[in-house]
Amino acid sequence: MVYALEPLLLLCYLFSPWVAAANAAEAAQSALQNDPGASDRFAAATEYCPQFSALHPRKHRELDITLQQLFTTNDFLLQVVEALSAAVHVPTESYDDFGPVGRDPRWQPFFKLHDELERLFPLVYEKLRVTKVNTHALVFHWQGADESLKPVLLMAHMDVVPVEPSTVSSWVHPPYSGHYDGTYVWGRGTCDDKSVVLAFGIDEESAGVQGAGHIAKHLEHTYGQDSFALIVDEGEPFDIPYGGNVIFANPYVTEKGYFDLRIEVSAPGGHSSVPPRHTAIGVLASILTEIEAHPYEPHLPRNGTLFQEVQCAAAHGPDVSAEFKNLARAAITSDAALEALTQLLLAHVPLSSAKLATTQAVDLIAGGAKANALPETAWAVVNHRIAEQSSVAALQERIAATVGPVASRHGLALDAFGRTVVSGSSGRISLSDAWGTALEPAPVTPTRDNPAYALLAGTIVAALGEYHNASGVIVQPTYALGNTDTQFYWNMSRNIFRYAHMPADAYYNGLHTVNEAIKPTALVGKIGFLVKLILNLDEASV
Ligand SMILES: *[C@@H]1O[C@H](CO)[C@@H](O)[C@H](O)[C@H]1NC(C)=O
Ligand SMILES: *[C@@H]1O[C@H](CO)[C@@H](O)[C@H](O)[C@H]1NC(C)=O
Ligand SMILES: *[C@@H]1O[C@H](CO)[C@@H](O)[C@H](O)[C@H]1NC(C)=O
Repeated sequence: MVYALEPLLLLCYLFSPWVAAANAAEAAQSALQNDPGASDRFAAATEYCPQFSALHPRKHRELDITLQQLFTTNDFLLQVVEALSAAVHVPTESYDDFGPVGRDPRWQPFFKLHDELERLFPLVYEKLRVTKVNTHALVFHWQGADESLKPVLLMAHMDVVPVEPSTVSSWVHPPYSGHYDGTYVWGRGTCDDKSVVLAFGIDEESAGVQGAGHIAKHLEHTYGQDSFALIVDEGEPFDIPYGGNVIFANPYVTEKGYFDLRIEVSAPGGHSSVPPRHTAIGVLASILTEIEAHPYEPHLPRNGTLFQEVQCAAAHGPDVSAEFKNLARAAITSDAALEALTQLLLAHVPLSSAKLATTQAVDLIAGGAKANALPETAWAVVNHRIAEQSSVAALQERIAATVGPVASRHGLALDAFGRTVVSGSSGRISLSDAWGTALEPAPVTPTRDNPAYALLAGTIVAALGEYHNASGVIVQPTYALGNTDTQFYWNMSRNIFRYAHMPADAYYNGLHTVNEAIKPTALVGKIGFLVKLILNLDEASV
């Protein structure tokens, strides 16, 4: 179970001219000295992996310095611990089968969480306009001086994944204790996602429809389409993945698409003493075998996000091998090198097969009623995550092409997504969107010539410089293999980022499992980042 703070949206109106962040890259330049390939890599890195120097507030410089100093005090840390702990105490568990808000009693804890937020943040409730959407979701509107400028939307969620009762005894400290042991705050929701201070949805852990779905409608109605300068939701922590004490921060600039395929095979029933050669279950088995025999081809398109990610690692990763660096550079122009690079990633880099291709997983199956009766139907659900440059339509076309020959072989008709594509008389195979949840890959937020990206990246560099003694900070765009609540916000802004600003070692044991716990010092760093982002936005024209 995950405690999630329902999406509160912090809307800041902005003013003042944007001060263009200078293109830093001193680190890359110093590497030019003794390495003949470095000059090409530098050019590639600038094109595919633009870097920005630390962006600190100017107009609000004093305020920023005062606040960042406050954030280093123990008193502030303890306030953060108290607030997080109080939020964790309220078990706002999220369920896949949640009934509507107001009817399902399992929504009740969200009232309690609202009370806690109001108690903990009286000034926020006094100064900001608070709107409750669909009863439990929260939108906090913070009006800036210039109403003509676009606001920023900061998102989080208040729900948490449920705690499996049989695992409670495995927790070092109980899952809803919010216990602080001096290093970690323990409990469901500490990492995902009750640590976000400002803007919250209620059911991100199920489907997001009742929280973010309603908020999106409210925002579109209130602010209009394309009304936000940028949107920041939860995302990836930063880490030191390539040695040399160089921090890589990874805002997701897009997300994979999603499709649950339902395959249903119907065939005449009858007594199983006189069976056909293949029953509905047997046919379904051949279809699934055929599907698994045809995984999706990996692709590393040069105009895709993953190619940018790879170029960032090659140009700026201190311990990245020379082979990888050279292949990455050559792959910019050579198709053979691109293919070799793709194979290198698949062989050596974790998650590459999921990043490079649409994935498929046969996750559900059912069929048959009795041992002596022929099954009249058998069905399965295959989960797909659609690669960046593919689409729901391309996926459906391919599935129909894969299943078609099986239908013909068995003399069965094939209905693919509402169209009969093969006719037959001994039964029917029907392919459909299992729960009507098809989702295209998310629009890609541009990283080049985009002031919103420059602002985010410059703020990340500034904030990490303040809190860590790294020898460099690289902002590396990447993309999410899963989906966040931002799927409801595509119409609200072209600048959607999913980024956590948390060190990877902030967590005791990861999310959605036992012993969820977070270092509150990491949370303080995140607060420092968000403060800087808001102050920087106030001086930007994004
Ligand atoms: C990327 O390049 C391919 C092939 O040239 C093209 O079909 C596709 O539209 C491009 N995609 C984007 C997002 O630019
Ligand atoms: C960074 O270095 C300074 C000076 O060496 C030290 O005082 C500080 O504790 C270090 N901070 C971190 C986060 O390691
Ligand atoms: C975005 O706007 C289009 C056109 O108005 C609409 O069809 C679509 O449903 C909207 N998307 C979302 C995610 O709200």
